[in-house]
This record gives sequence, C-alpha cells and structure tokens, in this order.
Amino acid sequence: MKDASPRTIYLKDYQAPDFAIDTTQLYFDLYEDYSEVTARLVISRSAENVVPQLVLDGQDLKLLSISINDCELAKDAYEIGEETLTLNFDKVIVEGFSQQNFILETKVRIEPQNNTSLEGLYKSRTMFCTQCEAEGFRKITYYLDRPDALSEFTTRIYADKSRYPVLLSNGNPVASGDLDGGRHWAEWHDPFKKPCYLFALVAGDLVAVDDEFKTQSGRDVLLRIFVEEKDRDKCDHAMRSLKNAMRWDEDVYGREYDLDIFMIVAVDDFNMGAMENKGLNIFNTSCVLANEKTTTDAGFQRVEGVVAHEYFHNWSGNRVTCRDWFQLSLKEGFTVFRDEEFSADMGSATVKRVEDVSLLRTNQFAEDASPMAHPVQPSSFIEISNFYTLTIYEKGAEVVRMIRTLLGPALFRKGSDLYFDRHDGCAVTIEDFIAAMADVSGRDFSHFMLWYQQAGTPKLKVTGDYNQTEKTYTLKVQQSCPATPESATKKPFLIPLDAALIGEQGRIAPSKVLEVSKEQETFVFHDVAERPVPSLLRGFSAPVNLDFAYSLDDLTRLMARDDDGFCRWDASQKMAIQVINNVIVSLANDPAPTVDKRYLDAFGEVLNQAITSLKNNDQTLDLAMIALMLQLPSEEYIAQQHSVVDVDSIHHARARVKRKLATTWYEEILAGYEYLNVPEIFAVDAASIARRTLKNTLLSYLVTSGREQAIDICALQLATATNMTDEIAALTALTHSASRYAVDQKGAALASFYSKWSDEALVVNQWFAVQATAPLPTTLNQVEELMKHPAFDANNPNKLRALVAGFCMRNPIAFHERKGKGYRFLADQIIQLNARNPQIAARLLTPLTRWRNYDEQRQGLMREQLKRISVTPKLSKDVFEVVTKSL
Ligand code: TRP
Ligand code: ZN
Repeated sequence: MKDASPRTIYLKDYQAPDFAIDTTQLYFDLYEDYSEVTARLVISRSAENVVPQLVLDGQDLKLLSISINDCELAKDAYEIGEETLTLNFDKVIVEGFSQQNFILETKVRIEPQNNTSLEGLYKSRTMFCTQCEAEGFRKITYYLDRPDALSEFTTRIYADKSRYPVLLSNGNPVASGDLDGGRHWAEWHDPFKKPCYLFALVAGDLVAVDDEFKTQSGRDVLLRIFVEEKDRDKCDHAMRSLKNAMRWDEDVYGREYDLDIFMIVAVDDFNMGAMENKGLNIFNTSCVLANEKTTTDAGFQRVEGVVAHEYFHNWSGNRVTCRDWFQLSLKEGFTVFRDEEFSADMGSATVKRVEDVSLLRTNQFAEDASPMAHPVQPSSFIEISNFYTLTIYEKGAEVVRMIRTLLGPALFRKGSDLYFDRHDGCAVTIEDFIAAMADVSGRDFSHFMLWYQQAGTPKLKVTGDYNQTEKTYTLKVQQSCPATPESATKKPFLIPLDAALIGEQGRIAPSKVLEVSKEQETFVFHDVAERPVPSLLRGFSAPVNLDFAYSLDDLTRLMARDDDGFCRWDASQKMAIQVINNVIVSLANDPAPTVDKRYLDAFGEVLNQAITSLKNNDQTLDLAMIALMLQLPSEEYIAQQHSVVDVDSIHHARARVKRKLATTWYEEILAGYEYLNVPEIFAVDAASIARRTLKNTLLSYLVTSGREQAIDICALQLATATNMTDEIAALTALTHSASRYAVDQKGAALASFYSKWSDEALVVNQWFAVQATAPLPTTLNQVEELMKHPAFDANNPNKLRALVAGFCMRNPIAFHERKGKGYRFLADQIIQLNARNPQIAARLLTPLTRWRNYDEQRQGLMREQLKRISVTPKLSKDVFEVVTKSL
C-alpha cells in the first residue's frame, strides 16, 4: 500500500550497490499468530570511498532488535521509513567498527497468516511458503532487495513438528533436530551465491514423490516433488517432464544441474505459474499436478512446459542472473524460448509453434497496441510486478528466436556457451547476452537492438510481382510501426523475413531468410518458371503483422501446397478471417448473408482428407494439424484485425460461419467423429493428443449444428468420458450451446459434474471457467451467483482466474454487454482486490485498459469504471500504475 504519487524508477539511474552481503544467515521462528525472522548479514563495502549510510529495503516489518558486530544499536544510529531501514554510520558507536566489513543482525516480526498478497512469507492453506520475485524478500527481512546483490545463504527453520513435519529451503540439508514443546528445526545451506529473489522456504505437512537423475558427468541428483497426501497420484507427469528437461538441457545447451537435490513444492495459492527458487521451485498446483482423470491435454502440456521453464532458469536466470529488473527479459525471454523449443521436441513441433504464435498475435500484439505497451527492455516502471508481461516473456522469446534465425543453430549455441561461461555467478544485462552472440559470430547487432528498445508491433506491407518474360518474381517490402507511449516515431527494425515461392505443385525454390532493414526494400527471385504464390514469414520468422493481399485462391494453394506447416495453418486462418469479415460487412443490410463457397470447399477438402486417412488407418497424416486448420480464429484474434472492434458483429458473423460449416458438412463431421470416438488406452503422446483434439473439434461443430442427435452424442460423451479432455470438451459444448434442447440439459449436467469432482480443486476451477466463458446473456448473473458458491474463494488466484478472468478476458460478447454491467462487475472486483492482492488486481485490469478499441458508448462506460477505480482510497502501486497509464 502506498502514498498518493508513487515514484517512477528509471533504467538510466542504475547504480551498483555500495555494499555487498557476503553471507546471509536466516533464522525463522514460525508460529500461528506471528513469525520472527533473524537475519545475520556479513557485509562489506564495495564502493571505493567511505559512504554516509546504508539503506536496506523492508516493508510491513516490525523491528524487534538491531545490532552491529553483536552490539545493540542506539536509536539514533538507524531510521525506519515506510519501505526502508537506514543505517547512519556516523552514529554507529561500536568498538572497532569499520564499514569496510561488519556484521549486521536484525530481528523482525511478521504476520504470514494475514498476508493475502501472496508475496513474501505467507500461508497457503496449511503450509508456510514464500514468493520473493520480484521484490517480496523485503517483506521477510531488511535486506538489499535487488538482483545484483548476490549472497551465500544459510537458513534455519523452527516450527511445530506435527503441523509442519517438512521444513525446506534452498540448497542442501545440513542438520536438523527436535526441540521442547513439540517443535523441531532444520538447517539448509545453498553453496551458490544468489540474489534474494531466489530465496525460498516451505514448512508443511507434505509427502514426497522421489526419483533420481544421473547427470552427463555421472553425478546422482535426488528429485523430490512435495505435495499434499491427496495429490500423491498426480506427480508422475511432472517428474517425467523434469527428467526430460534435465536431459534436454544437457543435450541441446550443454547445461548440467549443479546441486545434489532438486525439489518442487505444489501450493494452492500462488500469483503466477511457478517460481525458479534455487534448488526449491515453488509451483502453483495447476502447473504441477496432473493425471488423466482430472487434467486435460492442455493441462498436461502446461505442466510439461512450466516444469521445464523453471528448471531451465537454473542456468538462464540463477547461475547467470539479472543486474536489475529492466533486464527481466534476459532471463524470461531466453527461458521461454528454451521451454518452447523443448516442448516442440517433446511433441509436435508445428502444433507447438502454432499455439505459441496464436498466443503472441492475439494477446501480445494487443498489449503492444495498448497504453501499457513497453519495450522488451523497458526504460522505466512504477511497479515491477506489472512488467511480467507477454511482451517481456513471449515477445522476448521471439527476439531470441530471431537471433538464432540470423546466426543459425551452431553459432547460436556457441554464443549461449560463451554467455554462460563468461557470466557464470554474475548479474548481467541484455547487452551482455547480445555481446556474446556478437563475439562468436562477428556480426554487428547494433541495429538489431531496436527490438529491445522500441515497443510496438511492426507492420510489413508486402506486394509481389511476377514477370513472365524475365521469369522473375519481385517482392516489395515496406515496414512501419505504430506509435507507442515511449516513442511516437520508430526507426526501421532489422526483420528476418523467411520466404519461399509456392507453385501449383509445391515449393519451386529453396526458402531463404531475407533481411529487411530499411523502410522500403525490394527482393528479386530469378528463374521462376511459373506464377508463384509467396509463402512469407515462414515459421513466423519475426513478430510482425504481415499484410499481403492474398486472394482466396492463393490461400487455397498455400493450404494445400506450402511445405511450411505454420504457413499452411496461417493460410486457413487468413481465409476464415476474410470470409468472416465479408459476413460482417453483409450483416449490415442482409440478416442472412451467404458464406463464400470457396471457403466451405476448402474446409471440406481438409475434413475429407482426414476421414480418408482415418478410414484407411493411415498414420502419415498429422491429425493435429488437421484439427488446427479446421478451427476458426478466436473472436479476440479477429478483433485484432479491426480498428474499431464491433464485439457483436464479430461474434455473430463467426458463429454464423461456424454454423454454416457445421450444417454443410454435418455427415462428414459425424463420420470423422465416429472414427475417433472409439475406446483407447490413454496416453499423452503427440499422436493421442492429436486424435482427442480432432475428435473434440468435430464434437464442437456437431453441437453447433443445433441438431438433437448431436446434442445427444455430446451428452453421451460427457456421461461416458474416461479422461478429462473428453469430459470437459463435452461439458463446454453443452454449456455454451444456446439451443433449446441443450439448455434443458445443462443444469443437470453441471450439477452432476460438480458433485463428481467437488473434492478436486483444479477440476472445480475448470467447472467455474466453463460457466464463466459461456457466450450467453445469462452468464454475468451466473458468475455472480457462483461467487457465493462454497467452493469459491476470493483469496485464491486460481479461482479468480477461472471465474472473474474467465468472464472478463475470455468471453467478449458477455463482458462487453452494451449497458456496461460487465465493466462495473470487474471494477467492483478490482476495488476489493486492490488491498488484498494488488498483483492480481492489476492483472485483472487488462481488459479495461483496452477501452480505445471500442465504439464511443463502450469507451465511455469503460473509462467511467477506470475513473472509479482511480479514486479508490489507498490505491496500490500496482493498480495505480495501470490505471493512470491507461486513462
Ligand atoms: N520467475 C517466474 C517465472 O518463472 C515468475 C513469477 C513467479 C513471478 N511468481 C511471481 C513474477 C510473482 C512476479 C510475481 O516466470
Ligand atoms: Zn520464468
């Protein structure tokens, strides 16, 4: 909580700390109504000259005692501020004291049981746990809470033995013992110096699922996943993913794990997905627990990706860390790139790429076009928690990907080796990462650095010209980038444009990476025997908006003939968007516009291909790609292509096209569904996931037809499903259907699903989300009712994400209801959360920050709610920053 006008922090003001904390000894005394933390810090001056003060960070702490070299300090030797503890050296009267080298010991009292911000030390259900990134450690003890202060940590925990039999911290266990009064203690030592944001502590009644891993150099590592007893049967997938990630990092990056033990703890109350604390990762239960009965395929893949992501941070983040929080993408962008490539190698690479690009184009592009747009390396912030964004993570990963595209995989690996070796044990900058890439390749990256410095999504306007007599094909490329808050005019980016030419029978020349570096550029292809269709931005080679005037016939050719899977899928999406946009235009004066036959035919072509291959049991066709090509772009992605978003038209036009596809191809869709709807042994490999994805895509079309037969099929799938993927797909199709026949069955279906799964928190969250995302006028009332449901808990971020974020961020037609009831609902939630959990409150604000995208009436209603939030007393820094920047 903070004062009227919070301070902005600037990258240009960075200064190295005057002092180093060489070693940190922590003592935690945990009780039910308070806890005490003693910190014994061995401090040395790193500044050359004598300095007057040492300022430590600290927030919501009650200081009980403070000493230097074991002498209690006089009251005037230190000063306690809102967020600081200042030592005034000229008032320190301690024999033999020198600021060159001294021991500072503080003891503070905190109240973890009342800490609802889930930052610092807090209680999740029955256990104590910590979340220190980015600036949570200052809520535990007075410290240099900045990532460039690296220290060697020893941690001793004292707690009640029966309530908290398991006591964990970073590094290796050193010693433990029993105490009087039913208490016990354990001590941990982490030999690797680290910044305090990587500190972790856990105390709870947990069971361990164990395994082991032999590293490439032959060391044995104990792997332990700690969960509550009831979740013991949901750890296998995370364990398998962890071992795969450890092997992959050795094979692909030459990086080996460095401690004798690696631990994961699952907690229910967590602001984000997971946290890479050294040797002791703490995970949101939603990102670690999985089994076939309770977890969808998407859930399994998320667990695999997040387990790998946090593990990969051990090198990209922990061994080499960030100098300051402006460098956040140094660890996050690089680590996301690493986990994306890992998942691509574990499953279907093309499907993974399509999913990642979809997320980027739908959500990061929207962020980059919003008042919250910021560069991958921001130059200022008010609250760093607000910068754990799609831009830092996903766009940051795309920037690293472009570096690999420009250098090629071998040089890129040399560059990453040099980066890790050169900076091991250090806190560094994005420039250091780039310097390693430049040094191994001899390439000049100064122009490329604009990707880190300029916000906004560049637009590439491309035209193509075929010269029949010269047999040449000329691409004219023009780049531009819209203004963003930090800069009105942009310098041209260096854009790797991977391109190929597609003839009637397929690709007619090798693809090549064109380097677009100026505002306008021309590239000529020679010996082009026939009029080609260009395949552009292959594999999505740069995070840009591509504008090329493809005809429906061009797109049909790309869908059928392009050998780049991403471009084949993208052609299907471009086609769907053109057709939906045409319907939007026609809807203005024709209530029943037609859907372009060429699109219906292209869809039928893909569908029939799938049916033929299912009939012949032919394993060569990638069913996952088929499923992706049959899915329509989301309303959110379609909205991206419109300067003024007409929520209703987009929804109705898309629904109309979907219904037309469903009725035109009903028999074929049904046939495909029946081939796939056969008993199978459950597995989470790419082929099995592909079959389920296609089956449930087809189910969604069947139900969209509105036919009673289809709804009966859906109800039967719901009743007989043996895995959560099939079960939730059927529940969703039924719940989201507006047909009378479905409406009559919903209530009973939802009730029986709940009573079946009421003991499984993560399944109940899915049940909340299915209802919150129903595109129906009754949904807001339903959401308000569900907030009173005994299973809802407004202090649990997963529940808020399922219900509140589900409704406000994944249900455009209901959230943007014309009278603004959705906006008012969201503002009410944010105002309440502002005090309890500022990080989540600020995240939930996202949809309101996009008010400029809508019609005037909605703009007014959204701004009204933003203003209402802005005058809330005691606005947190988090909410303050987002509200003021977006108004
Ligand atoms: N570093 C974490 C990651 O792997 C992000 C994170 C976890 C986080 N918990 C947080 C960031 C709380 C801010 C606040 O990406
Ligand atoms: Zn991360």
